[in-house]
Amino acid sequence: CGIVGYIGGKPAAPILVEGLKKLEYRGYDSAGIAIMEEGSIEVRKAKGKLAILEEKLGDAAPTGLMGIGHTRWATHGKPSDENSHPHQDCQGDFAVVHNGIIENFQTLKERLIADGHRFTSETDTEVLAHLVESFYEGDLEAAVRKVASVIEGSYAMAFVCRREGDKIVAVRKDSPMVVGLGDKEYFLASDIPAILNHTRQTYILNDGEMVILTTDSATVKDAKTGELIEKEIFEVKWDAVAAEKGGYDHFMLKEIYEQPKALRDTIKGRFDENGVNLSEIGIDTELLRKANKVVIVACGTAYHAGLVGKYVIENLARIPVEVDIASEFRYRNPIINKKTLVIVVSQSGETADTLAALREAQSKEAKVLAITNVVGSTIAREADSVLYTWAGPEIAVASTKAYTTQLVAMNIVALALAQCQCALPCSEIKAIAETLKQIPAQVETVLTQADKVKEISEQIKAWNDVFFIGRSIDYAVAMEGSLKLKEISYIHAEAYAAGELKHGTLALITDRIPVIALATQEQVLDKTVSNIQEVKARDAFVIAVAQEGNSEIGKFAEHVLTIPRTHAALTPILAVVPLQLLSYYTAVARECDVDKPRNLAKSVTVE
Ligand code: G6P
Repeated sequence: CGIVGYIGGKPAAPILVEGLKKLEYRGYDSAGIAIMEEGSIEVRKAKGKLAILEEKLGDAAPTGLMGIGHTRWATHGKPSDENSHPHQDCQGDFAVVHNGIIENFQTLKERLIADGHRFTSETDTEVLAHLVESFYEGDLEAAVRKVASVIEGSYAMAFVCRREGDKIVAVRKDSPMVVGLGDKEYFLASDIPAILNHTRQTYILNDGEMVILTTDSATVKDAKTGELIEKEIFEVKWDAVAAEKGGYDHFMLKEIYEQPKALRDTIKGRFDENGVNLSEIGIDTELLRKANKVVIVACGTAYHAGLVGKYVIENLARIPVEVDIASEFRYRNPIINKKTLVIVVSQSGETADTLAALREAQSKEAKVLAITNVVGSTIAREADSVLYTWAGPEIAVASTKAYTTQLVAMNIVALALAQCQCALPCSEIKAIAETLKQIPAQVETVLTQADKVKEISEQIKAWNDVFFIGRSIDYAVAMEGSLKLKEISYIHAEAYAAGELKHGTLALITDRIPVIALATQEQVLDKTVSNIQEVKARDAFVIAVAQEGNSEIGKFAEHVLTIPRTHAALTPILAVVPLQLLSYYTAVARECDVDKPRNLAKSVTVE
């Protein structure tokens, strides 16, 4: 989601809408503004893209000089007018916009309802409006500080109060927020592009900081203690286009670097003292207990996440898994029944073939679990249960953070099945969960090798063919690496199970042809090393991806990209990262349109 705020001498509505336009990349399923006007708060909001809100405002937009606004990417509650921000308390005395997730909202909501508060939406954000109302004793700043002290989770939130019509109070924790400093006017936003047309002087707020904006000042304080904080002014030097990409050259690179956060958000709250928090993921436990077969169906990168899912579920839960391409599954009269758990995977939740596969499965009485990134999408609505990935909006056509969060989801499902079918002792489930929690930081470590990957890309950029090989779960990762390279650099790339090479493909391995070898799996490591030697003997140029501490590989590969050690089921989340970077830098070196590759679309809603 994206939030904005304005206080100054000009009508706020057009400034807020213009700021929201720059934040639409953060979410676009609904938008809204709250304007302080003649002692009351005027809220206008609408489901759908910002253009719909603009249309609704027409010539009759409120003309007040202060307000807050929001563009939403749904988390709790489907996209709808009611679930759009700003949210208000019962009396309409306060309005709030929020970006992030309030993890303890359910408990807070129940308490507030018991105290007589009436809720009108399904969102976690609405509790903030009722909380501030219940804490208010004539001082908005103090009430907001109290709100911050009782909520858990991540937030950037901004409040206005009817009785203090000259003030915006905002706080952040784990969600970004910047303050724009103008001449007797101040701006607030989730990201710099939203304010760049007005000022380049900013305060970048840190976690636990709050800001109080009036027409005369922007005061930053510690949200816990209320102590004044002296902020240094940060002058933005980027141009507007670069700013939208957070200073990165492309959305794809930005999204690659957003993976640690996306993974953390997707893991958060999914485990408790008993192992997998089954109520959180919303799958019918009865189905998890009785499922005797799992069928995973998807397209493109999501299908590759399914291939990893097969290894993970079969190994951890010992249930047979089939993986199918949605356009095949829907027409092949698949053998499934009530005891089959069908998992459809889709970032967008709108892919036509995946949706048709879901309907086909339901028509055969199978229960469908959707793994998707978009709350309220068609697939999310039609599935029997949904496990959301919290990657946030993905703009680049080539999927990166959606894929790695799908891999987390696959592990969560595998552990949930293992737990319900007693395939693993509770202690082992908890141990894997702990190992999973280390993954986001380990991805950060892998990302530090970007410069090395960039150098390697210079060495492969001129080739017309590149091969990817791997065994076991590495084979599934090789397929995703190969897809990434071909879709954005237009180099012909193929992935092979390493053991299958000698049955034909070896004929194509000639002098210096690049072979990217994944060798992260201990149980087949010797075999993979033999395959690397086979291609090396034909003078291939080998780039290996291996776990830290593997001294063998370096003897046969020109370059080794390392990943930190982890559980075998989790290695793909780390191993794919250098492959994403390699595709990215190779495509840049070949001057390709990285974010919008030719002939491809982000969301394929036709068959
Ligand atoms: C398109 C995109 C791919 C994506 C696939 C499935 O082909 O370009 O990046 O993997 O659709 O999309 P979904 O939204 O269902 O995951």
